[in-house]
Formats: sequence, structure tokens, C-alpha cells
Amino acid sequence: MIVQLRAVSKSFGDRLAVDALSLDVPAGICFGLLGPNGAGKTTTLRMIYGVTRPNSGAIQVFGLDISRNPRAVRARLGVTLQQNVLIEALTPEENLRVFGRYHLLREPELSRRIGEVIDFLELGSHAKMPVRQLSGGFQRRLAIALSLMNRPELLILDEPTTGLDPAVRLALWSRIRELRAAGTTVLVTTHYMDEAQRLCDRVAIVLAGKVVEEGPPADLIAAHLAPEAVELDCSPDEEAALLAGDSPSLRRLRVGNRVTFYLDNAAPLIEQIRRQDRGRHRPLVVRPTNLEDIFLALTGTSLEAGL
Ligand SMILES: Nc1ncnc2c1ncn2[C@@H]1O[C@H](COP(=O)(O)OP(=O)(O)OP(=O)(O)O)[C@@H](O)[C@H]1O
Ligand SMILES: [Mg+2]
Repeated sequence: MIVQLRAVSKSFGDRLAVDALSLDVPAGICFGLLGPNGAGKTTTLRMIYGVTRPNSGAIQVFGLDISRNPRAVRARLGVTLQQNVLIEALTPEENLRVFGRYHLLREPELSRRIGEVIDFLELGSHAKMPVRQLSGGFQRRLAIALSLMNRPELLILDEPTTGLDPAVRLALWSRIRELRAAGTTVLVTTHYMDEAQRLCDRVAIVLAGKVVEEGPPADLIAAHLAPEAVELDCSPDEEAALLAGDSPSLRRLRVGNRVTFYLDNAAPLIEQIRRQDRGRHRPLVVRPTNLEDIFLALTGTSLEAGL
């Protein structure tokens, strides 16, 4: 295991942010840490790279106890924080130079690595303007470039794509895939479930500081909900009428007026909806059940038939 947490807890005052959390991240995969705001993801990552100390439990990174070997561990990992840490008055190139020196890189290797990460994240066109003049997306790319300067074996990314436009997001995920293919282990948090489903080999869903589910996205989906989802706007009475037939225990999720039904076969329900429509023809969405459904089912809102 590249990262191993055993019964790790962390409190801030009387608030328990991480609650006896255990986690195994195997080598060479992209592992997603998912969970609602305040679930304890950032706190967990901070403990893994050794800037926050747990109150109890054990953390090993590369098989080393992080509290005893913080320097040895940090030399081998790269971190992009939820908030960018950049020197605004300097250019991207200068930021990379400062950070490379922190990692004790010397010329000509230092310049070689700077060129490498600038190319990798396509920062070339903006490499010589002060960071404060860069758009949010370029600043984020620079933050990720910084975390790659030491060619880390483990890359920790806390919400790397929040606030990025769709094209840059896609480009970034493809870069992360390349890193993984080259053997880098990636530990990432994201609130985009489509992204997590596409990119992560395994995910852990964290709720109130505890892992409530862990595994490959497809396995989690199959374990919790039927494979077909039907979404439509309907009142609670209409919903009850739809369920009165042959599927009273159908799992479903209501958010406001929008209901999603989960079924093995959507066809009979669609017929029932059309009968109820009586010419209205409400728009429906029929789609495969996805990781976002599982996230919502596990983390709350009102999944009425429960799990
Ligand atoms: N330095 C701190 N002092 C006090 N409380 C903190 C501190 N850091 C985190 N917390 C609390 O710990 C809990 C977990 O926070 P954390 O930042 O780990 O959540 P998160 O899962 O990363 O959330 P988000 O998705 O919003 O980034 C929250 O209740 C938060 O308020
Ligand atoms: Mg966070």
C-alpha cells in the first residue's frame, strides 16, 4: 500500500473532523476521496502529507510512519492544496524555480524540470507574466505544475478541477491519466461525480469523518441501486400512484419536485408514466445509474425506500 490509515481521528476543539478512519490506497491507481462539504477530506489529506497531526491512529505513506519521517515522505510526494499557494508577484517560471530549489534541485536539472512541467500543463504562453495576472484556470494549472516538480511517486490533489472550464477540466484529467499510466499513484478529491466515475479506479465515500463505502465506482453502483434511472417531475401524489402498481418498494430519490426511480428495467414504469400523463407527455430522462446517484443515496437527501 502507498497510503495506509488505521483508525485515524482528528478533532478541532469539540468537533470531530475525522472519526477512526481507515483507508488503503494501493500503488499505481487513481483513488478518489469523495464526500459532502465538511466531511473531513481535506483534513485527511493534510494528515497524510504530515501538516496536520492526528489525535490518534496510525498513518503510513510509502510504508513509513509520517509522524516520524515527514521529510523523507514529503520528498516523494506532490501536493496541490484546495487553495492555491502561489507567489503572486512572480511569474510561473519563477514560482517553479523557487519551489524546485526548495526540493534542492540544481541547474541544469532545475531548468529541465521547469521546462518539463510547463510543457506538461501547457503553461508556455503564460510562463513569463506575473501570477496575479493569470486567470483562475492558469493559476490552478501552475499549482499542479508545482506539485510535479519533484516527480512525485504519490500525487495528492485536493479538488484540482474546481472552478475550471470544461475543456481545461478534461485536459487535466487526461494529464492525470498519463501520470497514472507512468506509475504515479494519485489521491484526489472532487465534488464532480462524473469525473470521479470516469477517472478513479477506486473511490471512498466519506461522511462525517468516516468511510461509509469504498471500491471501484462500478461496484459501488451495482451494490446499491438498480442499473436504470428514470427522472421526472411529479407531485408526491403522482409518485404514490406510480408506486401503487407492482413496484411499491421501488427505490427512489426525491429532490423538490424531481423524482428519480431506480429499476432493473425502466420500460414498465415508463408505460405507467405515459398512462398517468393522459396526453400531457411530461419530459423524462432515462439513463444509466451513476456515481452521483450513489453519492446522493449514501450522503443524504431523501432516498425514501432507503438503502
Ligand atoms: N483548522 C481547523 N480548525 C477548526 N475546524 C476545522 C479546521 N479544519 C477543518 N475543520 C473542520 O473540520 C471539518 C472537516 O473539514 P474539511 O476541510 O476536512 O472538510 P472537507 O471534506 O475537505 O470539505 P469541503 O468539501 O468543503 O472541502 C469541518 O467541520 C471543518 O469546519
Ligand atoms: Mg476540502
